[in-house]
Amino acid sequence: MTYMNQFPSQLDTTKVKDRRTDEIICLEKVSFGYDKRHLIVKDINLNIARGEFVSIIGPSGCGKSTILNLIAGFRKPISGSVKYNGQVVAGPSVSRGVVFQSNALFDWMTVEQNIAFGFKFKTVSRSEVKFRVQNIVKMVGLEGFEHKYPYDLSGGMRQRVAVARSLVMQPEILLMDEPFAAVDIQTREGLQEELLRLHEQTQGAVLLVTHSIDEAVFLSDRIIVLKKHLCSIFYEFKIQLEQPRYSHRNRISEEFNLYRKQVYTAMKDLQ
Ligand SMILES: Nc1ncnc2c1ncn2[C@@H]1O[C@H](COP(=O)(O)OP(=O)(O)OP(=O)(O)O)[C@@H](O)[C@H]1O
Ligand SMILES: [Mg+2]
Repeated sequence: MTYMNQFPSQLDTTKVKDRRTDEIICLEKVSFGYDKRHLIVKDINLNIARGEFVSIIGPSGCGKSTILNLIAGFRKPISGSVKYNGQVVAGPSVSRGVVFQSNALFDWMTVEQNIAFGFKFKTVSRSEVKFRVQNIVKMVGLEGFEHKYPYDLSGGMRQRVAVARSLVMQPEILLMDEPFAAVDIQTREGLQEELLRLHEQTQGAVLLVTHSIDEAVFLSDRIIVLKKHLCSIFYEFKIQLEQPRYSHRNRISEEFNLYRKQVYTAMKDLQ
């Protein structure tokens, strides 16, 4: 595995809040293939710290979603271990919330019912559910739409419901697979900023799979670049931008452009 850490030299690292305290996700020498002769992921080592925002970027088919699915517990490794809080992941759990590219909302349920869906599998009092749903609706800016159905909402709003549905369960890590790929660029930028605000408030970790270098740089504490043919981590970049991270100014800062250039160059080396 080639491993590299790069920092633009002129960064003032003292302004960056260090969220890393302890590891919440730990992948150790993980290999996976849909059939045993063709490995998709080979000997991957990856740690995610509590509260850390990590993005995975890499060419189509390199195994990004596969890694996310292994952490979510939808798939099991052929060898190596995937651990959550020190325990081997045995299956999906609401403490590892998942948001997909297509929001997969239930069309026959209202916004409120969609958001509260996860509580069907938990013993939480009705009043607590109501309180948490109301709170999250406010946080993602869906007030007034609680009783609407998904087909009454725009694509961006549906994606907010999907994010809210995961966040309401107070996951320790949010796993997002190209969550904003299907929305227009203005909505996408708005959702990115909201996600950063929510991340700030909830302090949960996030693992984001994306094809957008700009999105990865704007959102992440760390970017992992995957290589196509060796199914391994190729580069790792720590991203340190001004606080608050959701500030528009970060999108046009010199540091942003430097990181963007580095990640772009790393990705081009892979082709
Ligand atoms: N259910 C499946 N059965 C067999 N092969 C699969 C399955 N899902 C994915 N693959 C294969 O595994 C490899 C990695 O797929 P994965 O979905 O993880 O890629 P990705 O990096 O997320 O790609 P993209 O950027 O296009 O979403 C691909 O070659 C894909 O064809
Ligand atoms: Mg994918």
